Amino acid sequence: MHCTKKVLDDLLWVGADDRRLTCFEGVYGVPEGVSYNSYLLLDEKTVLFDTVDKAVSHTFFDNVAYGLQGRKLDYLVIHHMEPDHAATIEDLVYRYPETTIVCNAKIKTMLGQYFDKDLTQQMIVVNEGDTLETGKHVFSFINAPMVHWPEVMMSYDATDKILFTADAFGTFGALNGHIFADEVDFMHDWIDEARRYYTNIVGKYGMQVQMVLKKAAKLDIAYVCPLHGFVWRKHFGDFLEKYNLWSTYTPEVKGVCLAYASVYGHTENMANILAGKLVDRGVPVEMFDTSVIPASYIIASAFKNSHLVFAATTYNAGIFVTMENLLNDVVAHSIKNRKIALLENGSWGPMSGKLMTDLLSKLPGVSFIQNPITIKSSVKEATLAELDALADAIADDIFPNRHTPKESEPVVEVREPAVVTKAEVSVDPTAFFKFSYGLEVLTTVKDGKDYGCIINSAAQVSEGELKKVAVSVINKNNTCDMIKASGKFNISVLTEDAPFSLFQHFGFQSGRDVDKFENVSYNDRLSNGIRYLPEYANAVFGCEVITSIDLGVSTLFIANVIETKVLSNAPSATYAYYHAHIKPKKQPAPEAQEEGYRCTICGYFVPGKELPDDYVCPLCKHGKDAFEYVPAVTVTKKKGFICKVCGYFEPFEGDQLPADYVCPICKHGRDDFEPAEM
Ligand code: FEO
Repeated sequence: MHCTKKVLDDLLWVGADDRRLTCFEGVYGVPEGVSYNSYLLLDEKTVLFDTVDKAVSHTFFDNVAYGLQGRKLDYLVIHHMEPDHAATIEDLVYRYPETTIVCNAKIKTMLGQYFDKDLTQQMIVVNEGDTLETGKHVFSFINAPMVHWPEVMMSYDATDKILFTADAFGTFGALNGHIFADEVDFMHDWIDEARRYYTNIVGKYGMQVQMVLKKAAKLDIAYVCPLHGFVWRKHFGDFLEKYNLWSTYTPEVKGVCLAYASVYGHTENMANILAGKLVDRGVPVEMFDTSVIPASYIIASAFKNSHLVFAATTYNAGIFVTMENLLNDVVAHSIKNRKIALLENGSWGPMSGKLMTDLLSKLPGVSFIQNPITIKSSVKEATLAELDALADAIADDIFPNRHTPKESEPVVEVREPAVVTKAEVSVDPTAFFKFSYGLEVLTTVKDGKDYGCIINSAAQVSEGELKKVAVSVINKNNTCDMIKASGKFNISVLTEDAPFSLFQHFGFQSGRDVDKFENVSYNDRLSNGIRYLPEYANAVFGCEVITSIDLGVSTLFIANVIETKVLSNAPSATYAYYHAHIKPKKQPAPEAQEEGYRCTICGYFVPGKELPDDYVCPLCKHGKDAFEYVPAVTVTKKKGFICKVCGYFEPFEGDQLPADYVCPICKHGRDDFEPAEM
């Protein structure tokens, strides 16, 4: 039975998923399956873009027949001759003999190599820039050699701005009923498999990918239709950004890909000790046992990380086989511009360090952090100091401004922190409103997704050539987790004209529930790729985290300021200004609500039957359009507690909220609530 998806009114996906394939291309495990995409255009002429792998041909032919609804197939456009897309071409032509094949000269040659049937009599051979009119649509053709084979071409539909990209922008993984990338959390749930697909399949051909990206940059693209994975119609820039990094061999993160090959566990022990020392120094580590983890996952991690560490035992006077296979794969993929460190083991003649060095020296732009560390059979006390030195060298390279205590520095006795009991504390939370905090929007980006929240805690904490700032973020905030993961953030300093709705948007909802940037009209970013607020902010600071301290409810991040931008001379909004002028005043709870109008932006209530056309909200300055009519109601007062920070009312009959109560809006605890009746 047919199983298709609509891409546009006249464009149907007629491909299929395969979840039984053990090894894609005979090499790459695909535990999440794979999709083979084919697209059918129903214009005045009918056009099929590519076919599918033999394994899913049954569904594919059902899909094509269903899509055509009895019409003949006028054209088959072939973008790529690899059999996962081309194996069913001959069968298709037997079923639809009137089809004209549209392809380039290299594809024509390969058709003759793969199939016995002479297809040359029903073929149009096109060159780059040639066009094909099918009625409403006009297609032009773009050569994309080595993305991923030499014959590959792409098609661009100028009518609906669709780019058919062959293997480019594909991913491993079955579509599972979806068709568009925006129907899933691609940058969170799929990016690892997309990276594994790109780096292993096309990773060697970064220069050719760059050439095609430059051609594509001249096109106005609304839809991207690859031969594997999702169709893109939104947020394509996030994925394109990754392609730019991968194809230029630019690491996505400053971190270590640590792969080891160990026979009896001693080399693994050395690798584990180094990993622990790296993590102690704040270096992110991804770790792999080459005897267990397929090379494709390690290749993807090597593209992702800035530093590579390989640890291998010596075996048959060579490199242990699983590591040798991995390193041959690394060399075959031409990974460039990485810092490498090596660990070797050999009970009587350690050789793997030198052999690994010889192999990896073939890679362009690589450098070795130091000579390989050698153990004979097992890790000894002296090795620990060597591993410490290597961890320091890697951490210094990743964090050049890292503070490392020098032996000559005086040792200062640190007093044990005082233990304070709750009974000794007498705190009025409103006293904290007297601090002259500023207010800021803190933003970060992780896996292409943007995050942001309101803070009131940014402060410069160190002068010098590299200035440092500190921010404190509530642990429950999604942005806090994302900064821990990304290690970087921007601070947009808010101005007095910032409306309350901005505080509601960034402060009163969670990034776990909504995408706070989905419908904003701006997309301004610093060179770290993180968004900032171009309006209602007077300056932005781009920062890289040096260290963080968990304070229980919050995390304190200390960061170097890498980039700044002054946006305006508008005065900064202080916390006191916010409470006095921006935050709506608490409305007294009416005995009985009379009819009137309520501002949908800030909640301000105006009693009365009519609202004048020129009425402006005294709190948030929005006009009559922002108000909604509220009929008269009888209000029964409820006992409860009101949040002094955000105004949230929690109905509650007892004398005190539970000790672990947290405001569902602003995440402050019960100490910030006071009794109220509403
Ligand atoms: Fe999906 Fe290069 O084939």
